[in-house]
Amino acid sequence: MSNIVILTGAGISAESGLETFRAETGLWAQHRVEDVATPEGFARDPRLVVDFYNMRREQAEAAQPNAAHEALARLEAEHDGNLLVVTQNVDSLHERAGSRNLIHMHGALNSALCAACDHRWPASMVMNVGDKCPSCAAPAARPDIVWFGEMPYQMDQIFDALAQVDLFAAIGTSGNVYPAAGFVAEARRAGAETVEINLERSAVGSQFSNVILGPATRTVPDWVAGILKR
Ligand code: OAD
Repeated sequence: MSNIVILTGAGISAESGLETFRAETGLWAQHRVEDVATPEGFARDPRLVVDFYNMRREQAEAAQPNAAHEALARLEAEHDGNLLVVTQNVDSLHERAGSRNLIHMHGALNSALCAACDHRWPASMVMNVGDKCPSCAAPAARPDIVWFGEMPYQMDQIFDALAQVDLFAAIGTSGNVYPAAGFVAEARRAGAETVEINLERSAVGSQFSNVILGPATRTVPDWVAGILKR
């Protein structure tokens, strides 16, 4: 069991008080995806988009990592092999819990990106439309978030890891957004054991060899303890 890849989604941060997207009262029930999570939405109304991520940055900064984030950091520290966490989340709760080998495939709230030259820098708590890039000085700062229609980050690295994975786990993700929802198929092609850990079966749940249902702060620490005993 030397190579472990773990995909996480909004469900792992739910018990830290951060809203998921597709719950009945979740973020996508309160905001239109087209308005706040697409390049076209940003071009149309940058103020609305910047404010949406300012609000989420404030909530994410106030949140604390929970027992599930902590268990994954423990697994990375104690597992005798490689472990990569690939998160779709834009909060920083994995790194604050101690995860180190981590890919933010959908970007990060605490990062700003220059739309003119691709330079990245730590985002201020409150970004403004037209903030200047510290590298090229273009007034082209945007949240460093992957919007619908844009390519998720570090896909080569993720697919390289999936090609050699022995154990793949997906935690707290509804399996609605690709390419992440396709990782389980990729892991199966590599011959990996696959486990879904979620509150309910996801849209791709039938593709996993194992399913563990329940709140992440309970299921993930138990699952990690079991892996470390193997
Ligand atoms: P979703 O909101 O689609 O799904 C969250 C999943 O977590 C659901 O299947 C819930 O049942 C589950 N869940 C909720 N609370 C949980 C808990 N306490 N313990 C365990 N599971 C729980 O969020 P994602 O799958 O992360 O992308 O969404 C994927 C992407 O869609 C996001 O990264 C975002 C969004 O649009 C972009 O903005 C580009």
